[in-house]
Amino acid sequence: MTSADARKRHAQLAEDLRRHDHAYYILAKPTISDGEYDRRLRELIDLETFRPDLVTPDSPSQRVGGAPMDGFAPVIHRVPMMSLENAYSAEEVREFAARVQKALPETALSWTIEPKIDGIAVSLRYERGVFVQGATRGDGTRGDDITANLRTVRNLPLRLASGVPEILELRGEVYMPTAAFRKMNEERAAAGEEPFVNPRNATAGSLKQLDPKVTASRRLAVVVYGLGEVIGAEPPSTQSGLLPWLESFGLPVPERVWTAGSTDEILGSIDALDTARRGFGYDTDGAVVKLDPIALRAQLGVTSKAPRWAVAYKYAPEQAETRLRSITIQVGRTGALTPVAELEPVFVSGSTVSRATLHNEDEIRRKDIRVGDIVVVEKAGEVIPAVVRVLPERRTGTETEFQFPRACPECGSGVAKEGTADGEGVVWRCSNADCPARIRGRLEHWCARGAMDIEGGGEVLVAQLVGAGLVLDIADLYRLKPDELLGLERMGEKSAQNFLDGLTASRSRELWRLLFGLGILHVGAGVAKALARAFPSLDELADATVERLVLVGDIGEVIAKSVEGWFRDPANRKLTERLRAAGLNFASTTYRAENAVASGPFAGKTVVLTGTLPTLKREEAAALVEGAGGKVSSSVSKKTHFVVAGSDAGSKLEKAQALGITVIDEAELKRLTGT
Ligand code: IVH
Repeated sequence: MTSADARKRHAQLAEDLRRHDHAYYILAKPTISDGEYDRRLRELIDLETFRPDLVTPDSPSQRVGGAPMDGFAPVIHRVPMMSLENAYSAEEVREFAARVQKALPETALSWTIEPKIDGIAVSLRYERGVFVQGATRGDGTRGDDITANLRTVRNLPLRLASGVPEILELRGEVYMPTAAFRKMNEERAAAGEEPFVNPRNATAGSLKQLDPKVTASRRLAVVVYGLGEVIGAEPPSTQSGLLPWLESFGLPVPERVWTAGSTDEILGSIDALDTARRGFGYDTDGAVVKLDPIALRAQLGVTSKAPRWAVAYKYAPEQAETRLRSITIQVGRTGALTPVAELEPVFVSGSTVSRATLHNEDEIRRKDIRVGDIVVVEKAGEVIPAVVRVLPERRTGTETEFQFPRACPECGSGVAKEGTADGEGVVWRCSNADCPARIRGRLEHWCARGAMDIEGGGEVLVAQLVGAGLVLDIADLYRLKPDELLGLERMGEKSAQNFLDGLTASRSRELWRLLFGLGILHVGAGVAKALARAFPSLDELADATVERLVLVGDIGEVIAKSVEGWFRDPANRKLTERLRAAGLNFASTTYRAENAVASGPFAGKTVVLTGTLPTLKREEAAALVEGAGGKVSSSVSKKTHFVVAGSDAGSKLEKAQALGITVIDEAELKRLTGT
């Protein structure tokens, strides 16, 4: 492809992807399939690999997350980011409206009522329509620069429609949709990681990531509802006019907004929003009441932390009181001991709650939860039931402190605290790899739909197989005989056959399913897929070192160490050999050499160094190539992608020229690798 062709194709793809992003995320009307979208995005990224000069800050390729950062730079907010005063009752809303009316006598007031999205406040700066900077609120005047992470938020336009002011700074909220939150927590649980408590915490954690690729995997979304600095145009004069104006540039705005002309209408809208928000796909914790005419706001001014022209009405989270009957401990596949509150059943937010997670020992201690206590339960983030607090005033003296076991309740082995991927060491784990609970967990996980997808291999059958001593590990499954299955209680011929057929089918499943099914700590489905794309077979992966593994995109040191450690364990090696003998597929169908290393200008490329370079030693040049994802080879062949030539380059240079291979010099090497 000529240089001009590449530029044209790049512009075409970028424009195309932007249009589809808008159709998908703003209009909610996708025009192409996810597969086709990924194909075009891949082509764009491939093109940019060869032509780094085509990369722009608003290229759709920036969505996948750039290089990790050392920290976040400070950003000074030119217009301070304020918070809001809260109101917890209709009375407080009336007082607020009366205060405003008093300050603006003889003015007929009008209001907007917007959902208060429960996320993290951000400031977004667009210059000439291009997203150039995004920051957290921080202390209101100074926040953190999280631009790279915000670029990965899929409904945030990296470029706005034409006609925008020269400088347009927006205020909005980043949040994690409920469905994405659920999915992420399921994946974390499957990878043996601590789940997040609610979508807001998950959002905060995702935005604080130093590796934008992690943020990219978190499926965040943004909504904008206000302005910061604006230069070069006069924005609409009302809040109700501002939102459609912003929407016309392609920005996501609150999905429903109410207007009111009186205090009674404000309260009616707050109620209407309370009903509507139950159907939103994200958490809202209140209604923001704003004075509609923006010019009038200046006359009211601000207090030290909040404007006087708006108030946040907070809906009471649905809570209920009930008695904590006991605390049980669940032992998971990874050996994690999770305390569970066994409650007297109580109705909260539309369903009966009889169990709630207590997360870990520290949480029980922090909240001083005792068995027999009357506790307040709440659907945290309207998703997982949680014990919010205890009511000490309701204690009778018969409550007992819970002793967190120092031995596994399932097998009696010792327990140890280990750090999680996020570095917090709060989880006790059973140290016995052969704990029956862990064995059952591993077998259930192997059979699960997201892993090897073996029909019938659920909790009940697995417990029977382990209980009868027929199966101790996943390889044993493949030695099961029909008679052995039929000998189990309530096992019919048809179910037995279905299970055996499921096992047969699982022998040829894709490699990533097997990898995920092995239950290696931190290897969720996404990581398993990345590994299967980067290694041709299980054998290559099993021999990979940490240094090699971290070159793969999406794989950081924690995961790499876990993978290396798992395959270094002789017991696991024995297990994989038995799986091989049982006829399981170890080859990857999704492997492509260029996936073997993280994307970099030389990702998947073979480079030959020849001659004497002006400033770099050979090893230094090789390190640059490898650091950018390339492989250094000593001889030139048709498979060589680049030759870096210095002075006195001899036969290798000639051969490269004869084969039409691109020859670059040291300066170009430095430029490509950003040195
Ligand atoms: S307006 C100058 N509108 O709630 C005040 N805030 O408790 C600007 N929030 O810091 C805020 N949804 O992070 C506004 N529709 C909405 C909102 C909203 C959520 C957040 C925002 C703010 C916090 C105040």
